[in-house]
Amino acid sequence: MQSNLNDYRKIYDKSELTRDKLDENPMQQFRTWFHEVDDSESVDEANAMTVASLSEDGYPKNRVVLLKSYNEYGFVFYTNYESDKGRALLKYPKACLSFFWPSFERQVIIKGDVEKLPDQVSENYFASRPKGSQLGALVSPQSAVIENRDVLEVKLAELEETYKNKEVDKPENWGGFLVKPKAIEFWQGRPNRLHDRFVYRLQDDFNWKIERLAP
Ligand SMILES: Cc1cc2nc3c(=O)[nH]c(=O)nc-3n(C[C@H](O)[C@H](O)[C@H](O)COP(=O)(O)O)c2cc1C
Repeated sequence: MQSNLNDYRKIYDKSELTRDKLDENPMQQFRTWFHEVDDSESVDEANAMTVASLSEDGYPKNRVVLLKSYNEYGFVFYTNYESDKGRALLKYPKACLSFFWPSFERQVIIKGDVEKLPDQVSENYFASRPKGSQLGALVSPQSAVIENRDVLEVKLAELEETYKNKEVDKPENWGGFLVKPKAIEFWQGRPNRLHDRFVYRLQDDFNWKIERLAP
């Protein structure tokens, strides 16, 4: 079976990125882009990003997670620490995040070191989640092989009963990761595949060096 997508082509011509338009701080630049995209409502889940981790077998692995906050320290998402990604990031605390916002023809790629968030921060976020999501975190041994869907449904029904009139505490194996950027690239699609790319790299003196990359 062969599917040929050679004729899939798109002209990228919505915008441009120039050095003088860039903020000196990449987190501020990210904030500007993120708000433009999010406010436009043309992208579903503007905070969806891929997170790539290193694996013991030498293969990288990517999956989508939701960015839940960002500030001058970095980018935060939540997950199960015993999942594939949880184990991988605890063992090799390096990650690559990426966003693709098609209606803006924009991509952002972040490379950085990973830290577990302090438990108290994860607890505060967990407490703010709807009860269904809290119970979902308790029910699912994320990334483990399970027999069938019933395993999940039965456990959820049990827990719904147990926690009918009770608050749900954050499970120990669940919480946030902070990705502290060392390099952030901003990519804006342009005609003739001559896209605009700028990368910010963190220097030893903690300043950011900005360079244009060839597309
Ligand atoms: C739009 C979207 C958002 C997701 N958000 C999260 C998230 O915030 N945290 C999470 O653990 N998994 C999230 N997932 C599920 C992950 O992609 C993945 O299936 C799961 O975390 C298990 O990955 P792993 O086995 O590589 O650890 C999301 C999936 C999609 C498609």
